[in-house]
Amino acid sequence: MPLVTTKEMFKKAYEGNYAVGAFNVNNMEIIQGIVDAAKEEKSPLILQVSAGARKYAKHIYLMKLVEAAVEDSGLPIALHLDHGDDFEICKSCIDGGFTSVMIDGSKHSFEENIAVTKRVVEYAHERGVVVEAELGKLAGIEDDVNVDAKDAIYTNPDQAVEFVQRTGVDSLAIAIGTSHGAYKFKGEPKLDFERLEKITNLLPNFPLVLHGASTVLPEFVELCNKYGGNVAGAQGVPENLLRQAAQLGVCKINIDTDLRLAMTASVRKHLYENPGDFDPRQYLKPARSAIQAMVAHKMKNVLGSSNNL
Ligand code: G3H
Ligand code: 13P
Ligand code: ZN
Repeated sequence: MPLVTTKEMFKKAYEGNYAVGAFNVNNMEIIQGIVDAAKEEKSPLILQVSAGARKYAKHIYLMKLVEAAVEDSGLPIALHLDHGDDFEICKSCIDGGFTSVMIDGSKHSFEENIAVTKRVVEYAHERGVVVEAELGKLAGIEDDVNVDAKDAIYTNPDQAVEFVQRTGVDSLAIAIGTSHGAYKFKGEPKLDFERLEKITNLLPNFPLVLHGASTVLPEFVELCNKYGGNVAGAQGVPENLLRQAAQLGVCKINIDTDLRLAMTASVRKHLYENPGDFDPRQYLKPARSAIQAMVAHKMKNVLGSSNNL
């Protein structure tokens, strides 16, 4: 089974009211942990690579590792560029074998975002590759911010319709209150479901994407902190809010921070308890298992993607 695009995955996810997890990968252990979980859960899967990951590991290493994962597992896996900054990086990933790319023009004006997205869509579609774009800003906003400020940051539903029609993009990342990293909310975590419902109603059967969707489970924060880390005050998106989003047209949920926390907590614990160990396999093996457990939990209890191959 070769790498697949997200087309069929999203169609099934939309109809089944669940979301497919898109997990960031940077090395072999992360890829193996995620793929083992997908196999265990019989779940569809997107592996995504950021510009930083490509710089760290090199495109060719990640490509070959993912090809090995496909061959070894027999699973239908989509390989996606996360947050492509411009046309050039998208082109490079399309030419280099990715089946999906994100062009993130959210920092540009509406018209410039449309122009760059359209250019990537044209190039990608001619080569059988699908494209995700982003409209709205993922910056975290304060609890007491007024409605006008929120409107300036979050995705405008009418603009979303125009954007999708004019670009021909295959999926759209929207801003409804999530943000990247481990510190997403200062007060009570909230997502703008009213806005999400509006977008979904205006764009029926169209896959939406939620970035910045780690939950930052307290037990992993505690574990990191217990063994010498300091991620005090970290707070993510509660799992029930993610489940709700998956019922409302969100077909792809991006998770990176939760994998980082699980992996780092495991490495910290192992080295603390085994100060004499200096064989990387001894601490990377439990770290890979920690990734697997985290991803299996997401598929089963949060995304609802288990048993949907
Ligand atoms: O949204 C960004 C992802 O978490 C990737 O992060 O750019 O540090 O690889 P990175
Ligand atoms: P988190 O930082 O919440 O895991 O989000 C990851 C993401 O959106 C990658 O694009
Ligand atoms: Zn993101």
